[in-house]
Amino acid sequence: MIPLNTGKIGLKNTFFLGSKIFLLVFFLCLFNCKKEKNETAEIKQTPNSEEVKLDLKSLIDDCESQLEISVPKLTDLTKHPRLIETDSTEWEEVPNNRLVWTSGFYPGILWYMYDISKDEKWKQEAIKRTEVFEDFKTITEHHDIGFMMFPAYGKGYELGEKKEYKNILLTSAASLASRFNPNVGTIRSWSNKMHPRWKQHITIIDNMLNLELLFWAAKHGGDKKFYDIAVKHAETTMKNHFRDDYTSWHVLEYDSITGAVLNRNTKQGYADDSRWSRGQAWGVYGYTMVYKETGDKKFLDFAQKLTDKYLSLLPDDYVPCWDFDVASDPNEEKDASAAAVVASALLDLSELVEDKKDQERYYNAALKMLESLGSYKYSGVGKADAFLLHSTGAKSLGHEIDVALIYADYYYIEALDRLKKIKENGKI
Ligand code: GLY
Repeated sequence: MIPLNTGKIGLKNTFFLGSKIFLLVFFLCLFNCKKEKNETAEIKQTPNSEEVKLDLKSLIDDCESQLEISVPKLTDLTKHPRLIETDSTEWEEVPNNRLVWTSGFYPGILWYMYDISKDEKWKQEAIKRTEVFEDFKTITEHHDIGFMMFPAYGKGYELGEKKEYKNILLTSAASLASRFNPNVGTIRSWSNKMHPRWKQHITIIDNMLNLELLFWAAKHGGDKKFYDIAVKHAETTMKNHFRDDYTSWHVLEYDSITGAVLNRNTKQGYADDSRWSRGQAWGVYGYTMVYKETGDKKFLDFAQKLTDKYLSLLPDDYVPCWDFDVASDPNEEKDASAAAVVASALLDLSELVEDKKDQERYYNAALKMLESLGSYKYSGVGKADAFLLHSTGAKSLGHEIDVALIYADYYYIEALDRLKKIKENGKI
């Protein structure tokens, strides 16, 4: 596997190196074939409920006290908190810019804290931080409008009784749908100008999350074609974006006219053919959500296959390395954000599957992830202003390595809220 940052090889050594590389590739292939076989077959033994020691109230209290510390420091409404560097304790803020995909997560966190606590002060803060970027509803220059608008306006509508956000969300859905290319059957994720490696229609696995905005809009008076676009995108991605062992590529380039797949690459993973952990996490979350919205069993089956693969690759603490293909090196950094995304997804999945054993397996795996994330090793309590430490945004690009990330916190508090509701409903 060739990492994204490759070095140069001197010409005079080419022959010598060539034969060495041949032998190396030969043995690596042998090793990988064996590894792939084992990985595909494996269903991880997940812990039973007695083995997980999770104190939900104390994890929620930790989040609230972290917000009590950080919110008074975050006063610039033109910016949002994005990350906390490894040796720092306070959020680094970035502008609420149309090109920055993370704007919606901070207001989303506040909506969740309001939903959990019903404390009006979090609602007022959430409104303040949501309503500053209404203009983003017209973003058509990339796919991230779903990531930006749904955690803010969508959660405000659902959790904060802000029914007046409906038209903003419907306009946002129309903006996102305008990027759908029927020749390909997917929404175009990125512009080629910003990502010049690719010349035609680019779709990334992360795009699965944006479909939630389209499903929501179709259910709330929006154009029915939003639903059809979301389903078509999910079907095309299911067909093209995954290897035979149910692991995901990050970036696919399609021919804009014929819809043929031109290339399968990465931007944030270790190498074009490696298994970027958060990419797999977006797949798990995305297909669980698509099944929840459509009731089509093929999506449930696929969500389970992606999940079982993800679980089979996890280390003992259930928090993955940033890329599964470098995980054997203990110096490689973790990605707590991937764990938070999957924990939240699995709580939904555990309620969607019919088989009792599967329900318990996914529920207990989610609990184990949350137990780990809330433990001293990953928690920001007493160390920095975030809920979670040890995420990796884009190591292959040389930034956001072993940091706190706002979206890790968002999916973590979403998972805690989901767990609280499951417990209150007495389902488990
Ligand atoms: N959607 C961008 C990321 O996962 O980093």
